[in-house]
Amino acid sequence: MSMTQYDINVRQGLPEEMQLLLREYPRDAWPDHPNFATSIRNWMGAHGMFRQLAELIVTDTQALLDKASDPTRYASRLGHFGNLLVRNLHGHHGWEDHRFFPELEAADGRFARGLEMLESDHLEMDQRLESFTRASNRYLQLMDLSPKDAEAEIGAIQKAGEGIERFLERHLSDEEDLVVPILLHHKMRG
Ligand SMILES: [Fe+2]
Ligand SMILES: [Fe+2]
Repeated sequence: MSMTQYDINVRQGLPEEMQLLLREYPRDAWPDHPNFATSIRNWMGAHGMFRQLAELIVTDTQALLDKASDPTRYASRLGHFGNLLVRNLHGHHGWEDHRFFPELEAADGRFARGLEMLESDHLEMDQRLESFTRASNRYLQLMDLSPKDAEAEIGAIQKAGEGIERFLERHLSDEEDLVVPILLHHKMRG
């Protein structure tokens, strides 16, 4: 995709040319808008859960790096919360790519490029999730086979986790800024 100017690693927020409706429906006014449906609230709630999971994993991993926590407990939390984050994000992105975004594009063709940008974010996220999963699985396997070697993997988990956290911060807020005004304007998902 030739959208390097919209690359999630360089952009600073929702690009100006995609803010057509955001100017009419600023974030502060969403909660009181009559078209702010429960389904929109739930979708934003899922984003909040992803943010929390990523933060929890990074905080946990930092505590382990600082030798402030127990490796066995860390391993079990990493397995549980890491799996939750990766599985739910895959499901969420798949649904957005295949069901939600096409529905939005059909409702308002002006935002096709914005939706395309969000889809390429998802591709980037897939790679980040894969690195995170690989590093985590290596750690968990070593914790079973050779715990003293497991420690060497923690840095890679933390690097991947922080990358995911940064990615989510940008992606989720740009996605909400693009999508919620479309939903409100066209009275969708009410
Ligand atoms: Fe998304
Ligand atoms: Fe999303």
